[in-house]
Amino acid sequence: MKLSLASSLLVYITFLLDDLSAVNALRLHGIRPPPRSGLGRRVAMSGDLKNSGDVKYWTNVTMGGKSVSLLLDTGSSDLTVAGDIPNTKDTGKTTELSYAIGSAKGPIKLVEVGYEGYTIPDQAFVLDTSGVQGEDQGIIGLGPSSNSKIRQVLNSAAGNPVVDHIFKLNSSTPNFISIILGRSDDPDDKYPGDLTIGEIIDGYENITSQPKLEVFDVKANGGQHWQTLIDAKGILGPDGQPVNVTSRVKGGSKNRLNAIFDTGFTMSQVPQAVADAFYLRVPDAKLENITGVGEIYTVPCNAELNVTFKFGNVSIPVHPLDTSSDDLGRTDPLGNQICLGGFQPIQDSAESDTYDIILGMTFLRNVYLLINFGDFVDGKDGKTNDPYIQLLSRTDLAEAHTDFVVNRLDGVDDTDNFHLLPASVLPVVDQDPDDNESLSEKIKPYLPYIIAGSAVLGLLLLIGIFFCIRSSRQKRYRRLHDPAPAGLHHSQEPPFASYQPARRY
Ligand SMILES: *[C@@H]1O[C@H](CO)[C@@H](O)[C@H](O)[C@H]1NC(C)=O
Ligand SMILES: *[C@@H]1O[C@H](CO)[C@@H](O)[C@H](O)[C@H]1NC(C)=O
Ligand SMILES: *[C@@H]1O[C@H](CO)[C@@H](O)[C@H](O)[C@H]1NC(C)=O
Ligand SMILES: *[C@@H]1O[C@H](CO)[C@@H](O)[C@H](O)[C@H]1NC(C)=O
Ligand SMILES: *[C@@H]1O[C@H](CO)[C@@H](O)[C@H](O)[C@H]1NC(C)=O
Ligand SMILES: *[C@@H]1O[C@H](CO)[C@@H](O)[C@H](O)[C@H]1NC(C)=O
Ligand SMILES: *[C@@H]1O[C@H](CO)[C@@H](O)[C@H](O)[C@H]1NC(C)=O
Ligand SMILES: *[C@@H]1O[C@H](CO)[C@@H](O)[C@H](O)[C@H]1NC(C)=O
Repeated sequence: MKLSLASSLLVYITFLLDDLSAVNALRLHGIRPPPRSGLGRRVAMSGDLKNSGDVKYWTNVTMGGKSVSLLLDTGSSDLTVAGDIPNTKDTGKTTELSYAIGSAKGPIKLVEVGYEGYTIPDQAFVLDTSGVQGEDQGIIGLGPSSNSKIRQVLNSAAGNPVVDHIFKLNSSTPNFISIILGRSDDPDDKYPGDLTIGEIIDGYENITSQPKLEVFDVKANGGQHWQTLIDAKGILGPDGQPVNVTSRVKGGSKNRLNAIFDTGFTMSQVPQAVADAFYLRVPDAKLENITGVGEIYTVPCNAELNVTFKFGNVSIPVHPLDTSSDDLGRTDPLGNQICLGGFQPIQDSAESDTYDIILGMTFLRNVYLLINFGDFVDGKDGKTNDPYIQLLSRTDLAEAHTDFVVNRLDGVDDTDNFHLLPASVLPVVDQDPDDNESLSEKIKPYLPYIIAGSAVLGLLLLIGIFFCIRSSRQKRYRRLHDPAPAGLHHSQEPPFASYQPARRY
């Protein structure tokens, strides 16, 4: 049921995303990358990302000599692409990859892949025939190979993900990737983001002196993500106070939430208590129930919310333009513009009993992320060299505040007049909700695939919500699978009846 909703939603979104320019018109800036000196030390510039409206980050890869655009996804571990890929070899196997929402399926093929100046002779990928992805578009999974469905099906090193192959091509390539997600279309900051393999991005050398955060070892088969524990009392709400939280993950620490870093999720997915602490005390914030989707926090765009996450005793402040993002084009009765919370209560389909929280783009834009794979390469779970994660904070709060004032307050700093509602509006937090009737019961039908957690499709869901909300200014919320509202320029065609695979999403 969930899956069919998701696919119709995707089709819907396919039509709506031509409106992306509306999103791009929103100004979100505030993070300045260091200037790049000439070509830098990078092997190739091909890994430089393309940022679509802060909701999707793409990288170009050549497959069989043809350039394709792939969504960057640290939350999954497989390569999938749709379209005509030349010079492939058959493996005789097919598979289906399921993401948090939606799926890709088709034959597993081998092809020469060129990426970041490296050439992989026989890279396994799924040629997606589901019709969901655009032509010559797909997903590059950067997660641990132990989570790769292709590897599982081929049951050999031939099924390894791209990054594992690259590490094995040349044993002197250090086993790490690093990622920056930029902000879109900033007039004075054209840096869309970057992905590197085995190299530190110029100007960010300090990342190597940041705490090495241990990758939490998920014992469950296929459930491993790039995940670590947030410090105890390590989530600070807009009042500067730690949020009371309890981890649901067995084998972890009760008072430290287990977070996965997922470049595939637009809106970070957090436990209800965290979303409540971030937004419930904001005057005029609303937890809106979207049919078929669940509850989504909306907040007035002019509420500056400073929140912080702590890892290894280092604070990572979140830019207030990420804490609430995306002007929904609606106003409340007082004329304040309404925004979408950047940290939403975790969607049912994204929940797992192997992590508590998904830190997606709204968090990741605030850091330089380095993932050292250790021995988590080639299908192995590490033994001698444990993998680790390093985070370097990139958000300068003073500058972020200035950006917020310019973007959201028309340059007039009246943030002194902003006051949170009293803490008594928050629900009493159950300090030890040992709900042993655990989520895994609830989501078992979707395991193990949704654990891959990621994604593209999950994030598209949120984009979908965004557009559905936008398009329902005059109406109440429409069911997501209704035809497009009349106001949209695609309305001549009922979206689900005439899906055009050629249209890019
Ligand atoms: C990928 O290639 C296409 C077509 O060559 C180009 O328009 C796009 O900007 C490239 N994207 C990136 C991330 O370089
Ligand atoms: C392997 O990597 C090292 C260091 O990056 C480089 O000097 C060497 O040429 C590479 N070897 C091959 C065969 O590519
Ligand atoms: C790197 O870190 C050190 C110590 O934390 C600090 O003194 C230095 O200014 C940092 N350098 C840059 C370029 O941020
Ligand atoms: C949200 O709406 C759905 C369907 O309309 C309903 O089943 C669900 O109980 C609602 N959730 C809340 C918290 O009101
Ligand atoms: C954080 O610092 C405290 C003392 O300042 C120390 O006891 C604790 O172990 C540190 N935690 C981490 C994760 O480094
Ligand atoms: C958010 O943080 C900035 C920088 O520290 C500060 O100037 C601003 O007043 C804070 N805003 C609120 C509402 O706390
Ligand atoms: C958080 O927990 C502490 C200790 O259990 C309690 O005193 C405090 O009231 C709680 N805060 C909230 C907002 O629930
Ligand atoms: C849940 O907890 C109760 C009592 O604490 C226990 O009897 C029951 O076996 C537990 N159920 C599971 C599935 O662990």
